[in-house]
Amino acid sequence: MPNRLVNGEVWTDEQGEPIHAHGGHMLWYKGFYYWYGEDRRAENYVSCYRSADLFHWEFRSHILTVNTQTEPIRVRTDLRLSNEDGSKINLERPKVLYNELTRKFVLWAHYENGKDYRAAACAIATSDRPDEGFVYHGSFNPYGYMSRDCTLFQDDNGSAYFISAARDNADLHVYRLADDYLNVDRLIRKLWQGEYREAPAVFKRNGRYYMLSSFCTGWAPNQGKYAVADSMEGDWSLLHDFGDETTYDTQPAFVLKLSENEFLYVSDRWNAQEYDRSGYVILPIHFEAEKPVLRPFEHIQLEATTGVIHFQL
Ligand code: GAL
Repeated sequence: MPNRLVNGEVWTDEQGEPIHAHGGHMLWYKGFYYWYGEDRRAENYVSCYRSADLFHWEFRSHILTVNTQTEPIRVRTDLRLSNEDGSKINLERPKVLYNELTRKFVLWAHYENGKDYRAAACAIATSDRPDEGFVYHGSFNPYGYMSRDCTLFQDDNGSAYFISAARDNADLHVYRLADDYLNVDRLIRKLWQGEYREAPAVFKRNGRYYMLSSFCTGWAPNQGKYAVADSMEGDWSLLHDFGDETTYDTQPAFVLKLSENEFLYVSDRWNAQEYDRSGYVILPIHFEAEKPVLRPFEHIQLEATTGVIHFQL
């Protein structure tokens, strides 16, 4: 892949193959960004790529497929990675954190049965390595709640949070995870009752927490919103507009922190007719005082000698 990316296109890996990592997440680990995301082709569910510069991506492996090894970690989780009739399930919006205590890479995703969206569950997998060897631990409803679009956020002290849409997407729940990240430990908040927020993405800047989200309109883009909090366990602000009325034809996947002052909004530009041809859009988040602002740029350019990323109209 060249040192220039066109926003909205299907980007390719070092082999020239399309990158299948939608609704995804990135983890910085030992010199590489690991990019995890949905891969709906053939027997795949989640694939992993890695890059040192965010431009040149090496395909690592299909980390969750219909054939992934399964292992229960508690009773009454559903371990099936395909349906009884042989059809595929759905694993959406996979996110991965590294747990310092257990030295495991822990993945959370949104589970559905692939036929309808009634299961509304979360699913967990773990591995000793960032890019292969994942074991699937099954899906469940946290405290019995519905759980759809989701994200993970790891705070500086290692506390981690799972945020997911509940009550048919009407409310957004914030759960604190257990120390091993393998279960929810506490339901912290039920945010924005009846506002139908989806595609949550959390980041921390100058000690404040920001949450981006979309409205609930399936594959069609809509007005992004953001909210701010002084603590992950405290009160969140009201929702304020972020980007334009279609968030520049995107839906949030996650926010990547490059440094204390540089944050990238990483998103999907869905192709509702041909899912595999959905594109990626990365935009810088500007701050006007404390307010996060998104502006559209067509190209992203890597300055190869310095690693600096430029955005161009
Ligand atoms: C979106 C959601 C996506 C996917 C899609 C299916 O609202 O954010 O992750 O579930 O609906 O229609």
